[in-house]
This record gives sequence, C-alpha cells and structure tokens, in this order.
Amino acid sequence: MNRSLFFTLDGNSALADAMLMHGSAILTRAELELRCFPDGESYVRILSECRDQHVVILCSLFNPDQHIMPLVFLTETLRELGARSICLVSPYLAYMRQDRRFHEGEAVSSRVFAKLLSQYVDRLVTVDPHLHRYASLGEIYAIPNTVLHADNLIAQWLMQHIAQPLLVGPDSESEQWVAAVAKAIAAPYIVLEKIRHGDRHVEVSVPSVSPYKHCTPVLLDDIISSGHTLIETVKHLKKTELAAPVCIAVHGLFAEHSDEKIVAAGAARIITTNSIGHRTNAIDLSQLLLSALSSDRE
Ligand code: R5P
Repeated sequence: MNRSLFFTLDGNSALADAMLMHGSAILTRAELELRCFPDGESYVRILSECRDQHVVILCSLFNPDQHIMPLVFLTETLRELGARSICLVSPYLAYMRQDRRFHEGEAVSSRVFAKLLSQYVDRLVTVDPHLHRYASLGEIYAIPNTVLHADNLIAQWLMQHIAQPLLVGPDSESEQWVAAVAKAIAAPYIVLEKIRHGDRHVEVSVPSVSPYKHCTPVLLDDIISSGHTLIETVKHLKKTELAAPVCIAVHGLFAEHSDEKIVAAGAARIITTNSIGHRTNAIDLSQLLLSALSSDRE
C-alpha cells in the first residue's frame, strides 16, 4: 500500500515532524502553500500530486474560526484533484463544550461544527474530545471517528517526574481523566466542585486534604482555556497545607496568556501534551496518533 500524503495545516511543526519521523513507513510529507491575503482571506495551493492518493491532514482546531476555511479549501481542492480519501487528524477538536442550548436562541455549535466537518473529510482522529453530554462523537459526527486518550502518556510522565502525586480534578467533568490516570499509577485522587458564573468567572470548592499532606498535588483537566478553572483551584489549594501544584492539561489553549496567570496564582509548573504547539508541551502524542493511522492499514 502506498504511503498517505501528509499535510500540516495548523503550524504545529514539532508534532508534524515527530509523526513523519516515527511514521515514515506510512506517511510522506506533502507540500502546501498557505497564506492570508492582506484582507484576511485565505490562500491555499496544493504543490504535491494528489490524484489517487490517500491523504492525512494534521490540523488541531484551536482558533477554529481561523483554521476552518483553509481546511475547507484544502479538502475541496484535494477532491477536485482526485484524492482518494481524506483523514483529518485533529488532536484538539473545537466547539465540543457548547453541547446544548444553555440559553434560548443559542447555537448548539458542537452539532453545527460536526455537521460541517463531516461534509469535508472521510474520517476523523482526535484525542480526548470534551465528551460531556454526548456519550460519543458518533452522536454528532456522521463520519467514522477514532477517539484516542492521553491518560497513559500522562500517567507515564507522572511516574517519571512526581514521586507521590495526589490527582486533583477541578470539577466533575474532569473526573473521567483524573480517575483514569490515578488508576494507571495507583495514586489517590479528589474531585472538586466548580460553579461557572461566566466565561471568566468560576467558583471552586475544596474538600479536606489532610490525609494527603505528604503528596504533590497535580491538577488535571482536559482543556485550559481562559485558565480561570485552574486559577481558582490553585488559589484554593494555596489555603491548604499542600505544596504548590503541578497543572497538567491534555489541550493547552491558553487564551489571553492564561499560562502566565496560572503560574502567577501559585502553580509550580504547567505541563501539556503537544496537541497544540506551546512551550508547556512535555507529552508527545505522535505515536498515539500514528497508532490510529497504522491500524487502518492492517
Ligand atoms: C470544562 O468543563 C473543561 O473541562 C475545562 O475545565 C474548561 O474548559 C477550562 O476552561 P477555562 O480554562 O476557561 O476555565
């Protein structure tokens, strides 16, 4: 079987290079010209022969409104030029948190976005999408999808770097990630209660931590966006007898420089996977992503 043509659309060259290095048997780098006109419109030009080729596109969908038009232009052009199939590898999948109409008249953007993407790609591979009210991506995506999990990689990082971790989930939604990682390394965990009052205003409650005084607290969440969930949690933990926490997230969006604000609030350090390129990346997803692509070819 020929190798798939591999396009990168999100500028995460470290992850793309790692995938090409570990996946040289199944991927071959494709060339693309991608730029913006002065008025902000996107320009896409495919520079590799794609007729009859299977195509893999790496594009994490942070800043989704900025990435979606280049993705649509690329996929449509690939089809016009005769590509056989298009698989989107989007380690971070956007718009998953607006999963119901919280207020009358709101767009349920997760559903609309899923409908849009399902029209343009044949298959989706992603990592820890924010599945809260949906049990699976299949509820909203009309294409085959593979959901991968970073829990084992996070567990490995913790085993190598933190002697006695206490896993802390900032809210009930984080319990799925916290429980899985805690189980993998046989560590204790607690989950706090969060009340969100607005985009940038959250309240967090902390239970008794006295039994865990000897542990290093590790805050774990799927996404860091405005950072307020972790900032509030860090501030509350500071009032306890625990050490400064390490914060770990699968997807570091870091809107409005929230990484700096989390550290200023008292976090010892922040660790993320490389689902989105950032200086906090310490956990590499390349081989996990490749495992999903390789299993197709068996
Ligand atoms: C929501 O429930 C997610 O799991 C995260 O807790 C949330 O997206 C983090 O957002 P922010 O950093 O804006 O508080």
